[in-house]
Amino acid sequence: MANLYDGKMAAIYDAMYQTFVDYDEEYAFYNNLIQENNGSSILEIGSGTGNLAKRFAKNNQNYQGLDYSDDMITIARERNPNSSFTQGDMRDFKLNTLFDAILITGRSTSYLITNDDINRTFDSLYKNLNDNGIIIFDFIDANRFIPFTKENPLIVHEAVYENVNYRRESHWNTNTALENFMLEWSANYFTVINDKKELLEKDFSTVRVFTLNEIELFLYLSNFEIIKTIDRKTYAYDTYVIIARKKV
Ligand SMILES: C[S@@+](CC[C@H](N)C(=O)[O-])C[C@H]1O[C@@H](n2cnc3c(N)ncnc32)[C@H](O)[C@@H]1O
Repeated sequence: MANLYDGKMAAIYDAMYQTFVDYDEEYAFYNNLIQENNGSSILEIGSGTGNLAKRFAKNNQNYQGLDYSDDMITIARERNPNSSFTQGDMRDFKLNTLFDAILITGRSTSYLITNDDINRTFDSLYKNLNDNGIIIFDFIDANRFIPFTKENPLIVHEAVYENVNYRRESHWNTNTALENFMLEWSANYFTVINDKKELLEKDFSTVRVFTLNEIELFLYLSNFEIIKTIDRKTYAYDTYVIIARKKV
């Protein structure tokens, strides 16, 4: 698991991602999918620093967030004092209520590294959904991202947030010694002042990318029926978004 979401990194993540991700657009996209499927109670997993939560709260929707990282939840609660956030692991959780829709955005599925992680997550989602409830999640498309990282060994992201210039330099290495399609991601985070870089933090994580076929098969085996697949570009990745219904 990355340390990207702990301690000081949680605040750096929050500052940088607000410039990479258009959360208004992100909210409109996912909320449309939820509304198309009549989802009135919503659980967001990997709710992070609460940027989508803010939009759900503004529209008075029945929303709860769940995240593994206490530090991300602390920022989410500061941003959304009236929303409910629970610390938990998507691979094994049971909340007190069932939901119509469970959302996992921002490619948080990349942290489901083993097949066991995936199966346990889909199992947990199933148990926390109402009959005919839906899951909506995205994942990085292995078929496009692996060639991209080979052609672009250094990926730079620059962002300005509250008058501070940030720069992230990332390297992705395909590790074929590992099971599944795995990438080792190392990233250095800098502030840039007068063209001088100052290192803020280093992050290293192993993430998994998926082919569409394997996700389809995992869902089938966990008793979900796919209702829609959307090919979607996000700020740096080609992803698929899947909407799947719990079969009863
Ligand atoms: C890339 S961030 C996405 C955050 C948010 N959805 C966004 O778009 O800004 C991934 C989030 O997933 C959380 N996460 C990673 N593994 C998790 C797990 N097993 N269970 C719950 N949350 C997890 C991290 O703590 C982090 O907040």
